[in-house]
Amino acid sequence: MAYTIRVAQSEFSFDCEAQTTVLEGAKKAGFDLPFSCRNGVCGSCKGKVVAGTFDAPENLEGLGDEERAAGYTLFCQARPTSDLEIAVRSISRTDPNAIKTVKAKVYKATRATQDVSLLQLRFPAGTRIPFKAGQYLQVVLEDGARRSYSMSNPSTQNDGASLHIRHVKDGRFSHYLDSVVAAGDFLTVEAPFGDFYLRPGDKPLIFVASGTGFAPIKSILETLFKQGKPTRPIALYWGGRRKSDVYMADLPQKWAKQYEHFTFIPVLSEEDNGVDRAGFVHAAVLADYPSLAGHEVYACGVPVMINAARHDFTTKRQLPPDAFFCDAFVEGGVPAPVTS
Ligand SMILES: Cc1cc2nc3c(=O)[nH]c(=O)nc-3n(C[C@H](O)[C@H](O)[C@H](O)COP(=O)(O)OP(=O)(O)OC[C@H]3O[C@@H](n4cnc5c(N)ncnc54)[C@H](O)[C@@H]3O)c2cc1C
Ligand code: FES
Repeated sequence: MAYTIRVAQSEFSFDCEAQTTVLEGAKKAGFDLPFSCRNGVCGSCKGKVVAGTFDAPENLEGLGDEERAAGYTLFCQARPTSDLEIAVRSISRTDPNAIKTVKAKVYKATRATQDVSLLQLRFPAGTRIPFKAGQYLQVVLEDGARRSYSMSNPSTQNDGASLHIRHVKDGRFSHYLDSVVAAGDFLTVEAPFGDFYLRPGDKPLIFVASGTGFAPIKSILETLFKQGKPTRPIALYWGGRRKSDVYMADLPQKWAKQYEHFTFIPVLSEEDNGVDRAGFVHAAVLADYPSLAGHEVYACGVPVMINAARHDFTTKRQLPPDAFFCDAFVEGGVPAPVTS
């Protein structure tokens, strides 16, 4: 059974099957709503149900209790049980040329540390994939399964992609990287995806990364720096368990010398070396900022950090929920995108 989903303050409406999430239904009908993780963690697909009923899991990490009470839900999780009227941050007709699938050549595969690989991919000659700095691509495995990786290169370099990949124990793509992938090999990749990109404005910026969550932040910052010296204050907090998890610290250290408005704070949770900050990365932000009202926060990395940061920044430091942007590196593959 299909229900009609009407999008408030727009001329758009679409049909959505009862068992289909609103996000998938929109995609099938040829519309793009914002999304990133598709797993109920990042909050990118948040919107309001103005009228109608729907089913959604009770405890969604990407949705606060107050937001739920105010009628918000995550459209990657919500399935209609009646016709709906919804309010969304943005909606547009799907551009059939926006997402490209290419056979990318592995130009370079190196290790930053024992468990982080740096992969440089080159797209076929003459192929460029325009993307917003901060977005991610999907590696399509032989059986169609997918793994998502954020592009770390600035968006001005779109004839290839640089990835920072943390190896996880018994991970399928991690194992493939360890034992199979070498320079000269080809990987099927699809891009771009995601809603983690810098919004225009002049608010002070705080970036919070855990581990390879630095990758899309590097892309955002390098793209920004290419536009000239930043005038907005920018703080980067990059956390890991040990110093080796902050595997490219010399780069933000260089930025801190180069740009007066940029500060870099490495934070280690399991190593107290007397130099770097000790503790959890989001706790370092809490300690440094009595209030985050008037700031924008961009957080990327493991879901546990994202959830703690979102919760504490919005409930203890007055950060407005709509000033928190994130990409959550949820475990395992994400569902394949629906085809229209
Ligand atoms: C939007 C998005 C962007 C991402 N960008 C990056 C990126 O830039 N760099 C990066 O390193 N990863 C990134 N990830 C995570 C990445 O997509 C994979 O989940 C991860 O590389 C593991 O894939 P795998 O095939 O090796 O492991 P799988 O075969 O999928 O998993 C095997 C085992 O490892 C566990 N596992 C899987 N992923 C993780 C994890 N992240 N942490 C802890 N345990 C895990 C699983 O629970 C399972 O037990 C991103 C994820 C999303 C959703
Ligand atoms: S919470 Fe829905 S896309 Fe991340």
